[in-house]
Amino acid sequence: MVLTPSAIDFVTPLTLATLSKNRVYSDFTEDKDTGEWTNHVELGLWGDLMLIAPISANTLSKLASGACDNFLMATFLSAKCPVMIAPAMDLDMYSNAATQDNISILKKRAIQVLDSPSGELASGLSGKGRMEEPEEIGMAVEEFFTKKEPLKGKIALVTAGPTYENIDPVRFIGNYSSGKMGFAIAERLAEKGAQVTLVSGPSSLSPIHPNIKIIRVTSALEMKAACEAVFTSTHYTIMAAAVADYRPENSSDQKIKREKKGEFSINLIPNPDIIKALGIKKSKDQFLLGFALETNNALENAKKKIDSKNLDAIVLNSLEDEGAGFGVDTNKISIIDSDNKITRFELKSKSDVALDIVDFIITRTIT
Ligand code: CTP
Repeated sequence: MVLTPSAIDFVTPLTLATLSKNRVYSDFTEDKDTGEWTNHVELGLWGDLMLIAPISANTLSKLASGACDNFLMATFLSAKCPVMIAPAMDLDMYSNAATQDNISILKKRAIQVLDSPSGELASGLSGKGRMEEPEEIGMAVEEFFTKKEPLKGKIALVTAGPTYENIDPVRFIGNYSSGKMGFAIAERLAEKGAQVTLVSGPSSLSPIHPNIKIIRVTSALEMKAACEAVFTSTHYTIMAAAVADYRPENSSDQKIKREKKGEFSINLIPNPDIIKALGIKKSKDQFLLGFALETNNALENAKKKIDSKNLDAIVLNSLEDEGAGFGVDTNKISIIDSDNKITRFELKSKSDVALDIVDFIITRTIT
């Protein structure tokens, strides 16, 4: 909480801190060891939303002009998060053209202004200028976070990366998947409020968001076990991993020597289809999204996979498109749903593609 010098005339920092059980800032503080005084920057970066309530005509004009003569203004100018304000002043001050111009400037800068209702004012006069009722402000804040985190309370499972199927302790059968797509989807889901379990095959990436729990696996069998352990409690499952379809029937505990001359063959046996196994167990409240990486007859093959694996939708990655596929930072996808409706997207960064996928899921499942 931040109090301006004028606000301290109404309520002391100690009173507000005691009643709200929060730390109250009203001035710049200096770090005794380093001499730095950057707490306004830290607060500005830390916040998810900055609410200034009540905001006087004076502070409102400073917001519009960018003046920086107190701690609140320094925090406002440092803030990276959205800002919401609830003006409170006398009716003539509120209706004054200068104040109204300032309000429209702030609205243009995407600051959410909670309109002043009419009613009794501190001056004894009656009119527009009162601060919006605290309950209404609380609801606006709640709505902001619900919109920002539509997946709050939802549990998601994401797979990413390749699988490595051991031949011996130093060799494996694998593929070029980097894990970028699955990791990006996990980040976007977590940013929208979901609690995510990310089951990843060998990948150099690490998740950033604290709501992502990573389980690192190597082989398809390990990936299947990790997914099955959490699947029943998930609302959303997104299988972006490039799972090896086959594994060596026998993997040697020791390095295979070159002593045998001539040909050498490895007998491969099929790996389980993880997503298909989950599709069989899926309940009607669970959403299962697969990926299809195709080099030819892309659409037709992707549609077949929806049916054979009991999916709600499939993301088609076609290697026929330039800039799509393994290793690169971009992707061009289409999403096909179980009614065969196709949504096509432009070539984008994998991070933006992940957002399209997560937004698609939200529109399909949250009304
Ligand atoms: N998948 C899986 N388990 C496997 C193989 C694939 O869970 N053993 C999942 C992938 O994560 C992806 C979807 O199934 O979400 C489709 O993967 P893909 O490799 O395109 O399909 P396959 O069924 O393996 O078909 P094919 O290789 O013949 O195209």
